[in-house]
Amino acid sequence: MKKNDSNIKKAIKYLNNNECIAIPTETVYGLAGNAYSDIAVSRIYKLKKRPRNNPLIAHYYSINDLKKDCEIDNNFIKLYKKFCPGPISFVLKLKKKSKVSKIITNNSNSVAVRFPSHPLTRKLLKKINYPLAAPSANISTGISPISKQDVVDEFGPKLKFILDGGSSKIGLESTIINLIGKPYILRLGGINSKLIYKLINPLENKNKKRIKIKVPGTSKLHYSPGIPVRLNAKNNFQNEAYILIKKRIKINKNYFYISKTSNLNEAAKNLYRTLRKIKKNGYKKIAIEKIPNINIGEAINDRILRASKK
Ligand code: TXA
Ligand code: MG
Repeated sequence: MKKNDSNIKKAIKYLNNNECIAIPTETVYGLAGNAYSDIAVSRIYKLKKRPRNNPLIAHYYSINDLKKDCEIDNNFIKLYKKFCPGPISFVLKLKKKSKVSKIITNNSNSVAVRFPSHPLTRKLLKKINYPLAAPSANISTGISPISKQDVVDEFGPKLKFILDGGSSKIGLESTIINLIGKPYILRLGGINSKLIYKLINPLENKNKKRIKIKVPGTSKLHYSPGIPVRLNAKNNFQNEAYILIKKRIKINKNYFYISKTSNLNEAAKNLYRTLRKIKKNGYKKIAIEKIPNINIGEAINDRILRASKK
């Protein structure tokens, strides 16, 4: 416990100096900096090699902090009460007096926000008086990190500090919902889309127009392991790594289980770790067996589909 407290102190020191650091969240590790500081957020873009037109998510401790920067409505409050803190991000309208750096919003009047539930990061957020801008802590277009070691593998000594919070519980990024105009989901993720739509009253939104937002992060090439990925594979070719979710009787050195019992939460948690391992082991190709498209399986399929695009 004492160790955690002193690490949080260190983290705050870096953040107050406009440095970026890695933070643990329940979804994936984030590359965090003061969301009110142009200097800090510029450093995030530079380190991550992220195109400047791709906006970042601002991470808050609570709704009270958020209200200073964003407009909120009933849909937001319903979803916040049910799922936050947790793996859901909201695109909201910025208030005129918002202090959020224009760099993270790509100069638009909206911003994506989230309330991560990881206890260490919550402790950190509670102690600072600014939100944290944090994209996933990986070089742009690659696989998100789910442990301290993954972050080290991405940035090496270029990143001065990583707040170690063990491995991420969910292992896939947050669900992103746009709440400006008619609500719709921009990215599938940690919270299943059906649970979200259940809570939002369709009558209330009947007359609202769907405001279309196009952002690079929801584009095709993303979450890429850097080698070809073949989906819905019934078996694997020689020398092809084969990702499975159900135990096989046959033993094969090229089999990589993300679950042995078709447990989709377990599969989500192990997916990125396994993709990294396969690449480290020197494989040149990956096959993945069919993943049921239910619950978090929806988000797994979204990520592996993007990973399979050339
Ligand atoms: O789970 C997560 O969401 C993780 C952890 C660290 O919180 N963060 C994360 O951030 O995945 P990032 O930057 O890797 O992905 C955020 C996605 C990007 O695809 C970005 O284009 C989109 O959210 N996004 C950010 N701001 C947006 C906005 N104002 N409107 C629409 N999309 C936005
Ligand atoms: Mg990312």
